[in-house]
Amino acid sequence: MRILVINGPNLNLLGKREPEVYGTVTLDDIEKSLAKKFPDVKFEFYQSNSEGTLVDYVQKGMSGAFDGVLLNPGAYTHYSYAIRDAVAALKIPVIEVHLSNVHAREEFRKHSVIAPVCKGVIAGFGSQGYELAVQALLKIIRK
Ligand code: DQA
Repeated sequence: MRILVINGPNLNLLGKREPEVYGTVTLDDIEKSLAKKFPDVKFEFYQSNSEGTLVDYVQKGMSGAFDGVLLNPGAYTHYSYAIRDAVAALKIPVIEVHLSNVHAREEFRKHSVIAPVCKGVIAGFGSQGYELAVQALLKIIRK
């Protein structure tokens, strides 16, 4: 099982960035913990602050090298049609993840332009959301 994990802008700052909203766990902690919790899964982890680079990473999902994608697009969630189109082109399942409960925050965070082309969305469970997404992907892929 091969899963591509892609994180968008400012998620490199996890642990330091608004800890009251996003927690104190770093992105490196999340990636290490996924690798430890799912030893049978081959993960590839990417993070970028740039929209075009994120599109390139999502397109890696078309290579045949992956069975599923976990994507936290950060603020691009709310307005990037380029990332949405890249996700829509994939034939493998994509799960959108948010650390925070985007529905309980500012109005602009309540809308995702990417969610409609994803298999599902997990939001509000902090770093645990990444594990839940991998569990869901594994279930979908093994079906
Ligand atoms: C986020 C939610 C987005 O609205 C925000 O711009 C982020 C992080 C989350 O994981 O909760 O950068 O995707």
